[in-house]
Amino acid sequence: MSTTEAHRSSSSTPKSPAEAVRSTLDAAAQEAVRERLQPLLVDLVDLSLTSKQLHWNIVGTRFKSLHEHLDEVTDQYRMWSDEVAERLTSLGVAPDGRVQRVAGDSPADPAPASWVHQDEVVTAMSDRIEAVARATRQRLEGLGDIDLASEDLLIGILNGLEMQLWMFSAQEA
Ligand SMILES: [Fe+2]
Repeated sequence: MSTTEAHRSSSSTPKSPAEAVRSTLDAAAQEAVRERLQPLLVDLVDLSLTSKQLHWNIVGTRFKSLHEHLDEVTDQYRMWSDEVAERLTSLGVAPDGRVQRVAGDSPADPAPASWVHQDEVVTAMSDRIEAVARATRQRLEGLGDIDLASEDLLIGILNGLEMQLWMFSAQEA
């Protein structure tokens, strides 16, 4: 087959979207990674929305420092959610970050719809961050046997979450 014929042949039989992304993992390993990273993606998108909601609605004498602190962690949640989603895509697994999926799957209660006192903000963020950090520890169990790069990503996120937990919970004193 000439180069021109080969080009015509490949371009006339486009791959389906599901076949378009090559993966170095087999189907069982892809599913095992999805089971760990998809719920983390949901948690991180939820945290990013919650921290922005509290950034807008916080009231109290420590308004400015907490208002700015909440924006800092929002940036981290957005960066981590992008990294988790793109780790999935790099393994040939389609991530689902739709608002409907996040709302349906997130185990957390909704943030208050309106003004929130600063003490309630600090406790809400500490509780949520602790829950996601604990879940991330559980999702790390056995992950290194399946995919070291995903394990490395989650270790970095766990380190960042626990640093956030320190900085919010220290404000509960
Ligand atoms: Fe803002």
